[in-house]
Amino acid sequence: MANTKSIHGEWSSRFAYILAATGSAVGLGNIWKFPYITGENGGGAFVLVYLACVLAIGIPIMIAETMMGRRGRQSPINTLTSLSTEAGANKNWHYLGWMGVIAGVLILSYYSVIAGWASAYVFKAIFGGFSADAMEVKATFDNFIASPMQLIFWHTVFMIATMSVVRKGVKSGLEKAVQLLMPALLALLLLLVAYAMTTGESYFKGLFFLFSPDFSEIDSDAVLTAMGHAFFTLGLGMGAIMVYGSYLPSGISIAKTTLYIAGADTVVALLAGIAIFPLVFANGLEPASGPGLIFQTLPIAFGNMTGGWLFGILFFVLLVFAALTSSISLIEPIVAWLVENKGYTRDRASIISGTITWALGVTVALSFNAWSEFTILGKTIFNALDYLTANLMLPIGGFCIAVFSAWVMHDKDVRDELDIPELQYVLWKYLISYVAPAAVFLVFLHVLGIF
Ligand code: PHE
Repeated sequence: MANTKSIHGEWSSRFAYILAATGSAVGLGNIWKFPYITGENGGGAFVLVYLACVLAIGIPIMIAETMMGRRGRQSPINTLTSLSTEAGANKNWHYLGWMGVIAGVLILSYYSVIAGWASAYVFKAIFGGFSADAMEVKATFDNFIASPMQLIFWHTVFMIATMSVVRKGVKSGLEKAVQLLMPALLALLLLLVAYAMTTGESYFKGLFFLFSPDFSEIDSDAVLTAMGHAFFTLGLGMGAIMVYGSYLPSGISIAKTTLYIAGADTVVALLAGIAIFPLVFANGLEPASGPGLIFQTLPIAFGNMTGGWLFGILFFVLLVFAALTSSISLIEPIVAWLVENKGYTRDRASIISGTITWALGVTVALSFNAWSEFTILGKTIFNALDYLTANLMLPIGGFCIAVFSAWVMHDKDVRDELDIPELQYVLWKYLISYVAPAAVFLVFLHVLGIF
């Protein structure tokens, strides 16, 4: 039988849940990662594949993952154990929960380093202001990431911030953090879009780059990256939305809230792209500049616009907060498990999981400078972790979630938990049983050169 409440507490309202889950979805993935991977993969066609993946794979799996969380009402590992018991299925399904926990720690280890960059930029904005000159902005960034001490320092600051929110728990910690920040972030992004419009011809170049698909630009790896990003940006496939779903009171529509969350996430990513690419073209920068892209473009806008000093500070503050509302969801599955299974207090669980993640993150920070020559299968530690998690672990996790909810759970339990009109249910069931798993599978075959 489904539990009715989580021992960790519950969201206080539907709105609080939407904010928290949107906080998990909207983060560095939208503002930092989406633009740079779009730049690296040639623009419009990549964006289209990403959007198709959000629609056909992401949204159905997000509904499934949230539904499983709410039915299980525990950390993802224990939720999978109890749901497989309920379905009379093999208990080994709980390893899916473990894979998610590991993916969460791995992602957070590099996520925190990049969030550290954003934190450092808050201070650069306050004390130096930004230069309006593209070369200077680039030099500032290059000098910054060449410094192991600075990267490790800011990564440490960000991890401490994450763990101090997480230790407070669902209501007082997670929920409070997002209520103000999300709307403010949206407002600042709109301001940046407005600024991008002043770049004249470059604005249209940027739009053209983003929205005019040229399929000759993408290969199988680009398709995999687009699909992986759909998982990453929605926060799917590793238990983050499952654990947030476990704090969701009964009676709130999972399907509807999912549509709001996915919609907001997509809008923020597209706005970030619309704000950034015109600046790339206006300043003769390379769209494929990699992870430094936003740090090499946005400061130019702030350096040029009236009031740019203040807006620059605000923007990076909000980016750090957007990262924070995602990072807490990355670590929540392991924290919840430590509390449930080891009887730890939230404090202790947060310190232990945070320290492990921090240590891994130090190696990521070094992979941008001192250890940049050290590669695994031709990738730096940062690139390898990003590829392993976003392109492999999240889609595999998502695939298994689709299979579990469609083929392992009893249809009546799923219906009971989702509680949506028949037509919508049938549509979702079709997408989750066939379309989503087949799509993930085909993309993998494609990358392996089999299809
Ligand atoms: N969705 C977050 C972002 O786009 C990252 C994230 C990934 C959060 C996986 C939770 C789980 O920044």
